[in-house]
Amino acid sequence: MKIAVFVSGRGSNLRAILEAQKKKKNYEVSVVVSDKFDCGAFEIAKGFSIQTFTIGTKEGCISYDELLKKFIEKEIELVVLAGFLKLLPVEFVNQFNFKIINIHPALLPSFGGKGMYGANVHKAVFESSAKVSGASVHFVDPNYDTGKIIAQKCVDISDVKSPEEIAERVLEIEHQILPFVIDKFAEGKIKIADGRVVICD
Ligand code: GAR
Repeated sequence: MKIAVFVSGRGSNLRAILEAQKKKKNYEVSVVVSDKFDCGAFEIAKGFSIQTFTIGTKEGCISYDELLKKFIEKEIELVVLAGFLKLLPVEFVNQFNFKIINIHPALLPSFGGKGMYGANVHKAVFESSAKVSGASVHFVDPNYDTGKIIAQKCVDISDVKSPEEIAERVLEIEHQILPFVIDKFAEGKIKIADGRVVICD
């Protein structure tokens, strides 16, 4: 299964996906897309000789329409948002209905929505005094963080002293569940039954 990964920052989730790809071999990251010209994730992609595109309207960028054509040409079957912080256009989401997934660094449907990304999420979780946090992988719909949840994993944060400590614990989980879900997609084991997402054995 060929996948496209969208990124905006350092790319630790991209790296986790690429490391898992070496072992599983049932999917291949064919393209990495960012809203930035330079980011840590692009360096990682280049290290793995993966084609990169910057999405946008500035010179040197690719538009969503052009990107869609490329994805069809390259037979991309799954789009993975791994720390991509922009909202995708509705038309793009509709073209890839139930074929776009996102990793969110908290237990949705709490601590999601506009502005809830990266450090902002962990700060809100810390200030709420919640005793558990975790990571969620969900389908992408045209809104922020509201698509159906595919997989979640929790971590105890009852003893943390800072939002950074929460971020560290959650990131470790992210690096496990995102490659896990991609692998299940590649094996055709993710189904929707009675409105719920089910991962089959
Ligand atoms: C990750 O923690 C990811 O969950 C988060 O951005 C970080 C990217 O890190 N995404 C969001 O907050 C989306 N709402 P990475 O670039 O090292 O993978």
